Amino acid sequence: MSSIPDLSGKIINISLRYHEVPMIKLILGLQFGDEGKGKITDFVSDEKSILVRYNGGTNAGHTVVTDRGKFKFHLLPAGSLRAKTVVLGNGMVIDPFALIEEIKGIIKENLRLDIRISSAASVVTDLHKNIDREQENLRGDMKIGTTSHGIGPTYEEKYSRNGIRISDLSSLETIIRKLRLIREIRQSELRNSPYLEDEKLLELAKNLHSTWDFIGKFVCRTETFLMDSVEKGEKMIFEGGHGSLLDIDFGTYPYVTSSNTISGSMHTGSGISLRKVNTIIGVVKSYTSRVGEGPFPTELHGNEAESLRTAGGEYGTTTGRPRRVGWLDIPLIRYASSLNDIDELAMTKLDVLGSRKTIKICTSYGKKINNPMNALLGAETAEPEYIEMDGWGTLGNDEIEKIVSKGYDSVPEKMKEYIETVERLVGKKISIVSIGQIRGSTILKK
Ligand code: IMP
Repeated sequence: MSSIPDLSGKIINISLRYHEVPMIKLILGLQFGDEGKGKITDFVSDEKSILVRYNGGTNAGHTVVTDRGKFKFHLLPAGSLRAKTVVLGNGMVIDPFALIEEIKGIIKENLRLDIRISSAASVVTDLHKNIDREQENLRGDMKIGTTSHGIGPTYEEKYSRNGIRISDLSSLETIIRKLRLIREIRQSELRNSPYLEDEKLLELAKNLHSTWDFIGKFVCRTETFLMDSVEKGEKMIFEGGHGSLLDIDFGTYPYVTSSNTISGSMHTGSGISLRKVNTIIGVVKSYTSRVGEGPFPTELHGNEAESLRTAGGEYGTTTGRPRRVGWLDIPLIRYASSLNDIDELAMTKLDVLGSRKTIKICTSYGKKINNPMNALLGAETAEPEYIEMDGWGTLGNDEIEKIVSKGYDSVPEKMKEYIETVERLVGKKISIVSIGQIRGSTILKK
């Protein structure tokens, strides 16, 4: 234990706060999104946790199944239903109308929600959704398969410094000026947009401004709140949106989202240094899925794909699109696990995979490849090599309940073999295992 002065000269005890107790966790996905991060965040959060999301927008999505029904979240982190406080950080791109709907959905159920929204987060407007669609049309056969939720164009606006920030929603005049500026600069991308008409643009500006009445009271400099919370030794969970392989720099560019998604983006998206995090948990689905275009070496096709897609309910929470599905890809998971410097893994949807008679795991791409992204992006050719394992059958609700009450030792032997093989291949421990859809079907593995 050691004591050091903090920035204000006050003596603080660092070892207790940052080293002995794993107080601050970062949870992120290691594949192409939809790994089931939400379920893991929900599992590790409690009523004392401050939950923070720091990137992306409504392009993300997760469903939490509770005894009060299904909740679909796009902006709020999944653990919002039980957390002490929820923070939407500056790195996010927020559609204010969608946000109000999500918050009202929780309030309607008489569940409490203490939320803080960063004044510096970016606002997604209809203009940006129009631009997103227009860009996708223009790409032709180079299309990315975006969610059309305006994510890319809103980040473009942020970086060109013309973006509308959440704090701007308080001023109708600022919204009108910025919308007009954006329209002027982006004329060609808005040629099919109804907002070329000034009357329409003014209506949009008024609607955006009207959201301030509801949202304004939650808006603050969230980085200050978070820094104070770190100082107080609060329990915090940062939830990354989107998978690591959709990262704008390290993912399968251009088939990626428009923000960084790897662990380092937590710092720029929230103001809290990655050095404050005690544990980084990488979430991996027991097989792979991907929405939209882009390389996918272990992809399944035909009946095999259809059967796994149906068993796993692999249809986008955000767009309803059928997800492409395939076997687990170890080279990609090892790559993502290094990029994020993860401490441990959580594995989801083992119940879904188990119903396959034979299960495959891609262990390599044939020859020695120095970076799997090169293989995926065509510089080298990905020729997946697989090992095969037996499935463990379909788990009934009674069986899931039994496993949950008795713990990891009662997991079917074949499932254990799968879990332990993945641990060995990735070189990281799996500490959390999810074996069913409902909230209480997640177990800790020692
Ligand atoms: P955008 O983020 O809407 O621009 O879409 C870019 C690509 O990322 C598309 O292929 C999307 O389907 C994909 N994508 C973005 N966010 C997620 C996510 O949270 N889960 C899965 N795919 C996503």
